[in-house]
Amino acid sequence: MKSSYICNCKHYDFYNKNFLYWENRIVTSDEKSIIKYIEKQNYKKKLKILHIGVGNSYAYEKLNVNHIITGITLSKGEIKKSKSYNDENYIVYYCDKMSMNFREIFSKFKFDIIIDNNLKSYSCCQKSFEYMFENFVKVLNNNGIIISNKNGMNWVKKLKPKISFNFKNFFHHKMREIDGNVENIFSMEEASKISNKFSLKLILENDVVIFSK
Ligand SMILES: C[S@@+](CC[C@H](N)C(=O)[O-])C[C@H]1O[C@@H](n2cnc3c(N)ncnc32)[C@H](O)[C@@H]1O
Repeated sequence: MKSSYICNCKHYDFYNKNFLYWENRIVTSDEKSIIKYIEKQNYKKKLKILHIGVGNSYAYEKLNVNHIITGITLSKGEIKKSKSYNDENYIVYYCDKMSMNFREIFSKFKFDIIIDNNLKSYSCCQKSFEYMFENFVKVLNNNGIIISNKNGMNWVKKLKPKISFNFKNFFHHKMREIDGNVENIFSMEEASKISNKFSLKLILENDVVIFSK
């Protein structure tokens, strides 16, 4: 499915090829601390969790016993890894969170938690970032939370397609990280502004940042 956007920025299309990215890399310490926070809450009911940027599916592995996890990513390699769990409840969609497709895919969904440790890190522009944030708020249940990480919010990258070679995969398509836009460093000041804009409560607990509806 071709992605469409509200802005005119250049976007690479990672959909048509089998792009490898984070499926075999270790989970970031930023995501780990988010998962620890969620585990510590000892929620008494099964929550619906949307995981933005599933990577190696660490969040699924840790949380799926008590909760239902749905994910998105730009990497078909990560989607293939998610399918290897053979769990029909764990669906990972190819979806650019900045795109209009997000709204379409999740128009009938509601989540209790959205995990995104790199909220603004890969954004193309402010307009699409705010559009993305609005869409996240739209799919949140009342009392739901968007949960991120202070270090992850300070990390900025862009993704570009690359053809790579190794003896396991021979020539293959890979997503390459290049330096991103420093304007995508998501400061606590901006987090506070956007919370006010969407009437969310901003909570900082150690390095975990929570936007609560
Ligand atoms: C650096 S990896 C981190 C993986 C995992 N969250 C972790 O912390 O270990 C970034 C993840 O975000 C995803 N990603 C990057 N830009 C995205 C976008 N615009 N829409 C959806 N996913 C995106 C990538 O596909 C990848 O899964």
